[in-house]
Amino acid sequence: MSKTAKIVLDDNEHVLPVVTGSENENAIDISKLRGSTGYITIDPGYKNTGATKSAITFLDGEKGILRYRGYPIEQLAENASFMEVAYLLIYGELPNTIELQLFERSIKRHTLVHEDMKRFFEAYPAKAHPMGVLSSMVSSLATFYPESQNPDRNSEAINLTIHRLIAKLPTLAAWSYKNSMRHPFMYPNNKLDYCQNFLNMMFSMPTEDYDIDPVIVKALNKLLILHADHEQNCSTSTVRIVGSSQANLYSSISAGICALWGPLHGGANQKVIEMLLKIHIDGGNVDKWVEKAKDKNDPFRLMGFGHRVYKNFDPRAKIIKKSCDEVLEKLGVNDPLLEIAKKLEKVALEDEYFKERNLYPNVDFYSGIIYKALRIPTEMFTVMFAIGRLPGWIAQWKEMTENNEPIGRPRQIYTGYNSRDYVDVSKRK
Ligand code: ACO
Repeated sequence: MSKTAKIVLDDNEHVLPVVTGSENENAIDISKLRGSTGYITIDPGYKNTGATKSAITFLDGEKGILRYRGYPIEQLAENASFMEVAYLLIYGELPNTIELQLFERSIKRHTLVHEDMKRFFEAYPAKAHPMGVLSSMVSSLATFYPESQNPDRNSEAINLTIHRLIAKLPTLAAWSYKNSMRHPFMYPNNKLDYCQNFLNMMFSMPTEDYDIDPVIVKALNKLLILHADHEQNCSTSTVRIVGSSQANLYSSISAGICALWGPLHGGANQKVIEMLLKIHIDGGNVDKWVEKAKDKNDPFRLMGFGHRVYKNFDPRAKIIKKSCDEVLEKLGVNDPLLEIAKKLEKVALEDEYFKERNLYPNVDFYSGIIYKALRIPTEMFTVMFAIGRLPGWIAQWKEMTENNEPIGRPRQIYTGYNSRDYVDVSKRK
């Protein structure tokens, strides 16, 4: 017999269905509660609300498990390429050799962006944050491909949009960096793989080739895989809710980029390095900053610590920490910020405040340090996250569209004034 839940309201008992997932997680289905009782449920920040059923990513925050389509993140990060993982997330299965070749070839065919878009970059000030530029450019892509705006798109048209997005995001990202430097744009080189091509567009110059270091390529590939999906987080929920109005995929992804930008989400990786630098300039007294983070009257928080769902450890942080040590050793990086990061991690992990609240270093604590070692400029860190998260956003948008999910439209409990009469301006106090 299927499970049910009972709720008693105003002495009346209501039976609600229970939905069970493939990993035995349970949810009470309250979708009809308002119709039968007049009540809604309230859950600010959706801390305990399942917004959808999804077959893409499973995570268990207590046990520190993360799997894409059933495959453990540890195995994917160790063995797969980012393109394989993108294919897996979007199409549901790992590609065979032919499928992977066709996918990679199609991505390479679309890496160029329309020459007219180059002029948009020129209008941005040099100090423009690359996340702002990236979200605008992605949104602009919809105007260059008007067929993407048709809500009755067939799967071939959707596939084309998906491939265009994956292909063009690194080009737009690298150009937003080149523009901030007022350096000439470097065009994509389709002889290179996805990560190599991005690094080449970032760091080569017309006057000088860029020597692509395999250590850096490997680290980047791993970082992108670790960020590729994370079920219903803030930016992914944004993509799904924007897409639920049948807005086109470019616009939905652009909204996701904006949501990711915030310091409590993807923007944390930039804030981690800025925080470490601040502590370093201040004399490197880690204890002082840990005390500040614990002080409720001080707005300072330890960036890169804490997570909405991981309450024991972040499995991505575990993988990345190891990779971080390897990369720094292989590249011979000796960074004083790293020493501060290590001290901070130790002090915070032993401190009662952090232990009681289950605050552990998250993926962004280490990713910023690696990106810095790879010579990625700090303002580009969240852009790197966006490149990694793109396949996840696409997969979630595609799943929502294919499942014909209804438009996202939460309710509220109103706490404002009751009805009152309009008063003419001359009579107002
Ligand atoms: N430093 C100090 N105290 C913290 C921190 C922190 N980084 N994070 C949470 N706390 C404290 C809160 O003050 C609160 O304390 P209280 O119970 O005494 O009031 C308690 O821990 C719970 O914190 P919430 O903010 O309620 O937890 P929530 O799940 O809403 O927030 C979040 C999670 C936003 C990630 C939070 O931990 C944070 O702000 N961390 C720093 C930013 C960061 O690293 N973000 C990246 C997240 S990972 C990602 O997006 C890939």
